[in-house]
Amino acid sequence: MHFSRRKFLKAGAAVAGIHAVSPVVSWANSPDSLKLKAEVFKQRILASGPETEVWGFNGSVPGPLLRFRRGERVRIGVTNGLHEQGTTVHWHGLRVPNAMDGVPHVTQPPIAPGARFTYEYTVQDSGTFWYHPHQHSFEQVARGLYGPLIVEEERPIEVDREAIWGLSDFKVGSDNQQDNDFGHVRDMANMGRLGNVIALNGIATDADTAFSVRSGERIRLRLLNMASARIMRLRIHGHRPVVIAYDGQAVEPHEEPGGELALGPGMRIDLVLDCMGKPGQRFAVVDLAHKNRQLLTLAYSDESPLRQKPLGAPVSLPSNNLPEPDLGRAGRHQILFQGGMSGRPVIGLVDGKPVKIQELMEKHGLAWTMNFTARHESALTHVPFLRLAQGEHCLLSMINETGFEHPMHFHGHMFRVVAIEGIAPKYPQWRDTVLVGPRETVDIAFVADNPGEWMFHCHILEHAAGGMMGTIRVG
Ligand code: C2O
Ligand code: CU
Repeated sequence: MHFSRRKFLKAGAAVAGIHAVSPVVSWANSPDSLKLKAEVFKQRILASGPETEVWGFNGSVPGPLLRFRRGERVRIGVTNGLHEQGTTVHWHGLRVPNAMDGVPHVTQPPIAPGARFTYEYTVQDSGTFWYHPHQHSFEQVARGLYGPLIVEEERPIEVDREAIWGLSDFKVGSDNQQDNDFGHVRDMANMGRLGNVIALNGIATDADTAFSVRSGERIRLRLLNMASARIMRLRIHGHRPVVIAYDGQAVEPHEEPGGELALGPGMRIDLVLDCMGKPGQRFAVVDLAHKNRQLLTLAYSDESPLRQKPLGAPVSLPSNNLPEPDLGRAGRHQILFQGGMSGRPVIGLVDGKPVKIQELMEKHGLAWTMNFTARHESALTHVPFLRLAQGEHCLLSMINETGFEHPMHFHGHMFRVVAIEGIAPKYPQWRDTVLVGPRETVDIAFVADNPGEWMFHCHILEHAAGGMMGTIRVG
């Protein structure tokens, strides 16, 4: 295992207790021999006390970094080494054929313990993606089954180096072991099951965690929120990060208002960070969504500046040339979200029968409805809430009547964010996951060009299990 908590040795940070951000395990992949194994093992997540039992891929959380080239054909053998549960792997954000999408019961039977399944597809888009199981995901992802997946551009932008910040969280007790309270209705109807330890690349992170930079350098930073429920809003103090991609797709390079980098579960942001601080300086990286909790420290080494002015090279990424939806001829559809704790009274249909919210929660373990219907994961097959012809242009309004924010994710396609509360985003953007705020309406549009039955769900994984998931059938 290449995961170790290395001491931070640069002179400028020779302070007791400071440790460096651990890199993700990278993989010298030869395309024919990619193997992932979901398994149970121990990992040193916290600096002191016992190691934590986790579920992960190939002995590390996050799992190995998969790095592909655009247009490459890949084969990935997945073995289920878990003891009791079936599993699958979903390639979040990749536009793969439906049969390779890794959704149990919808696109494939779950991979039974001890069994193996080979995923094979052509990588269509460059960008920052990730992978995770879609089976019992509120438990399997929370326990550590996820990893980053990067598809290189044909001509990458010029930077001094690249770094990945894979963010997640763990809910652990004083014995450093994960709490077993997965799928609790209390979390389902609220903000999901939040961890008490934030992890960066699989290791607990806080103000004492140093991400070492050199004055003058330009870093391409890939942020991934792989947590099962935690919405994060990062701010890098003293810096002006330039956003160059959302969910792996190029966006016109820009700074976010207030420097706030919003990352719901599942979402990614690619940044260009020009480190223009002085040698020896330190800056906090905080989460504005959680009382400005400090997640790590940007620590400048004492080395002399690499350059005095930011690198002049352009930072805009090439487009993946996704099919552009034409709003003029798009069919209009709506999805209404209701439910949740203290949500307005709601009646949901479960298996076609009307059920009151109380009963929905107590008897059915469901807490949310989409278009008045709450679905269990097991009831998903062949009951799409939307049917689209192949090639149809679709404008979908998501109307959130709940008091909660939901990162809504669609499989097999990327979509345009057309409007948030009727206002077009300043920078046209493609996404596969978008945050829909409490009582907010978000309109998205896409060309339904990938045939099959595709999941549409909230990426707060307890919300998905609690009814906020369904499928859209294309073709
Ligand atoms: Cu990240 Cu339906 O998944
Ligand atoms: Cu949600």
